Formats: sequence, C-alpha cells, structure tokens
Amino acid sequence: MLLSNSKLQAQTLIVFAAAAAAQAAEHFSCKHSRDGSRLNKPTCPRHSRSVRDVYMCLGSQYFRRAYRMSYKSFWELYLKVKDEMEATFKEAAKIRRLARRKHRRQLRRGNNRNPTPPPPPNGKIHTSVRLACALRYSAGGSPYDIISTYGISHTEQFDSVWYTVDAVNKTKEFDIKYPESHEEQRKIAEDFRGVSTVKFECCGGSIDGILIWTLKPTLANAKAVGVDQQKFMCGRKHKFGLNCQAVSDVRGQFLDISITYGGASSDVVTFESSDLKRHLDQGLLAPNLVLFGDNAYIDSQYMVTPYPNTSGGPKDNYNFFHSQLRIRIECAFGMLVQRWGILRSAVPRNISIAKTITLVLALAKLHNFCIDAADEVVANPLLQDEHHMTTNESGSVPLVPNADASKVLGREVTTPDDLIGGGEHFDDAPRQYRRRQQDDYHRTGLCIHVQDSFMSRPRRRGT
Ligand SMILES: *[C@@H]1O[C@H](CO)[C@@H](O)[C@H](O)[C@H]1NC(C)=O
Ligand SMILES: *[C@@H]1O[C@H](CO)[C@@H](O)[C@H](O)[C@H]1NC(C)=O
Ligand SMILES: *[C@@H]1O[C@H](CO)[C@@H](O)[C@H](O)[C@H]1NC(C)=O
Ligand SMILES: *[C@@H]1O[C@H](CO)[C@@H](O)[C@H](O)[C@H]1NC(C)=O
Repeated sequence: MLLSNSKLQAQTLIVFAAAAAAQAAEHFSCKHSRDGSRLNKPTCPRHSRSVRDVYMCLGSQYFRRAYRMSYKSFWELYLKVKDEMEATFKEAAKIRRLARRKHRRQLRRGNNRNPTPPPPPNGKIHTSVRLACALRYSAGGSPYDIISTYGISHTEQFDSVWYTVDAVNKTKEFDIKYPESHEEQRKIAEDFRGVSTVKFECCGGSIDGILIWTLKPTLANAKAVGVDQQKFMCGRKHKFGLNCQAVSDVRGQFLDISITYGGASSDVVTFESSDLKRHLDQGLLAPNLVLFGDNAYIDSQYMVTPYPNTSGGPKDNYNFFHSQLRIRIECAFGMLVQRWGILRSAVPRNISIAKTITLVLALAKLHNFCIDAADEVVANPLLQDEHHMTTNESGSVPLVPNADASKVLGREVTTPDDLIGGGEHFDDAPRQYRRRQQDDYHRTGLCIHVQDSFMSRPRRRGT
C-alpha cells in the first residue's frame, strides 16, 4: 500500500529535521577555528583537522600507506622543512596582503569595474597540515579526498604542494650531489661489494635513465626552456616527457640526479653533456672506481657496461654479475614511482617544465629521506589512491613485478617498465659514440675477475 500523500510529507519532514539536528550537533561538536566565509557569500566555516587527529583515525599502518612514510618520519621531515615552508608562506601572505590593500583602494576610489578580488580568508593552516597535504597529493591521492580530510580549500591544497616542494628544494641537507670525498665513495663501493656474489669492489654507483611523463608542453612552455616541442617526445615509449638520469647506491638512494633534456634524448647524449660527466672527467671518482651502466652508455675509464649480444661463456657470466649491481638503479626508480604515485601519470600541462623538474627533484629528495629514516620498503598505496591513479584522464603506467630485481633484493620489487629504458638508443648520438661502444676499459679485467672466481650465472630457466 502506498502511503497517503500527507503522511509521506510528514515522514520526509521528520527525516529532514533529524538530519538537520544531527548535522548541527556534529557542527557544534567540532572545533571552529576559523571563518571560512567567502566574500559576501555565507558559506559554512571549514572544519580544520590536525595531522594527529588523522593519525588517530588511520592508525600507524594506514598512515604509512597514505603518507608513504611512518608517522615518526613525518614529524622528522616536518622539523626539517618547517622553517623554509613558513618563510615561503610569509612571502606569499605579504603578496596577498598587498593585493587586498590594492583592492580596498580601488573600491574607495569607486574604480571597481574590474577590481582584483581579494583571496578568501582561509584562516591559519598549520604547516604540518600543508606538508601532509603535499605528501598525500604526491602519493597519488585525490585532491577532493585531501581537502575534505583537512578542511582546506582546493587552492590551498595545491599551494601547499608548492610550499613543500620549494622548502625541500631549499633545504641544503637534502641536496643530491655525488660525494667528492674518496672515503665516502669507497664506502659506497664497499656496500656494493657486500651484495655482489663475485665481490666486485669497483662499483661507485649504478646509473640509468627514466622518463618523467608529461603532457605535450605548450609552445610557450617549450620556448621558455628553449627546447623544441618535439624534443619532448620519447619515441620508444610514445610519451612526452623529460629524460631523468640518476645514479643510485646499493640501498636505492640517489647519489646524483639531473633532468636537463627532453624525453627524445638518448641516455648517452644526456649523460655526455651532464654535470656529472664533467666532474667525472675532472677525476671525481677515486682510483679504480667506476659507475655501472647498461648498454645505453659507453664503456669508458669511469663507466663499465655489459658486453652486447652474448650467449653463454665468460662474457655472459660477467654480464650477469654486472647486472646484479646495475639493477639497483632500476629498484630505486621502482621505489620512487611506487612511493610517489603522481609519477605514474602525466604531469598536467598547466605545471610548467621548470616546476615539473623542481617537483621531481623534491620527490627524489624525499625518497632519499625516507630511506635514511629506514622507511625502505614502500608500503602499498591506499586502495582509493590506487583507484584515483589508475583512472587518471591521461592514463597511468602499471608497476610490473621485476623478477630479476626481486631475486637480487630478496623481496617483491615492482618497476615502472613503461618509463624505464626510453633513452636506450643511439639515434641522436654522433657516430663516434657508436664506435666507442666497442671500447673496453674495465670490462676485460672484470670478466677475468669473474672467471677467476669460478662463479657462473645461474642457469636460465628452460636451458
Ligand atoms: C646483436 O644481435 C642483433 C641480432 O641478434 C644484431 O642485429 C645486432 O647488430 C647485434 N649487435 C651487435 C653490437 O653486435
Ligand atoms: C592525473 O595525474 C597527474 C599527475 O600524476 C595529477 O597531477 C592530476 O591531478 C591527475 N588528474 C586527475 C584528474 O586526477
Ligand atoms: C591545472 O588544471 C587542473 C584541471 O585540469 C586544475 O584542477 C588545477 O588546479 C590546475 N593547476 C594549476 C596549478 O593551475
Ligand atoms: C631551488 O632553490 C634554489 C635556492 O636555494 C634556487 O636557486 C633554485 O632555482 C631552486 N630550484 C628550482 C628548480 O626552483
């Protein structure tokens, strides 16, 4: 039987009243720390929440999945970047104050045809909340999720990302620079020796490139960095982006990182014109130390690469033990992208190239920080983040289980294979590079070392 019309209306009213009462009760039970009303528009005040409140709700496991680091690491990071963030914020607040003053002057003069609207007062947002928002965003979290969690505006959420990126960039302690001290270099090589079955003791780092995926840059944006639009197109991966080169140590911390070329460039050209190469030429590495790179690089006095096209024999054995150390950089890229899920999708067009570079460098620094803080194993992302990442309008790259890397590390390792290896070509390299590919500097010596150790690669499955 249908309820009579008047009875239905009465019931609806009761439900509405109850809902309103419940909302009011919640409203008054929460802290009102600020007036969130926009200019002449009475909106509900925003309800702020602290990172601690959120932690109490999530618990330590979920906090780690959401913020990509432990609660303890979060506060350690906060203490390191707080001062820089607050300085940047003060600078921005000054600019806003001036804008508001200008607006008032315009109003007073009656010249309000097109006044600069004052930014809505947002109340004070604690620096820790800003940092938390930036981390959630970098983790691949949805901005709508973040703004409703912390009760801040969409604009403040995005600004918080840039305050954080800026602060991380300015914090000297986070700078990534290959150590100049031979003692530190030997320590790096010692760590590599520890994981090398044949005890290679010359590895001063493992080098490779990864594509930082962006949308096709606008003409103006490409002009601003003086690079042709097509130079951003990575032909191997059919994506626009930037070529990022990095050197990692055995734990996957970045020892050197540079982003100076578009995605079209090969690793060898990027490397040959990098600052790192310049330093290496000037004798950066301690005697007998070399970098381990793949066949996208050229064997030289400071770089050792695998033999191309081997099948069986001592060269093949050598290649296997070489790859055992070289793979650390792939693991590092895997961790970087797994931790900071925004790297799995294209960086939006309205983030300029220069800003994209700062963002990625900041994420690399945070990656190093997490490893330092013993947050080495990257937690799985929250399911809603995973969902948000994989439904990105520009698409997203999967993280694929990497069997070789998993075996070496003894735990499941996933790598963004759709981004790694885009620079493994010699298309733009002058011919002399290709010829030099045949040169041998250290390979022969290392190959003999492998032979002397009587070790051979594990048999491949199916042979
Ligand atoms: C490696 O082998 C492939 C075919 O198997 C050949 O096309 C290529 O030229 C070889 N490369 C070198 C450097 O010998
Ligand atoms: C898509 O991914 C990029 C970078 O990861 C992110 O900045 C952007 O907000 C995402 N788009 C949507 C609609 O979530
Ligand atoms: C970039 O564009 C997206 C929509 O495509 C927007 O949500 C976002 O706020 C913009 N970011 C900036 C920094 O302008
Ligand atoms: C990082 O900060 C330094 C100042 O410490 C500044 O000179 C540099 O331009 C910043 N880098 C980027 C990419 O914004």
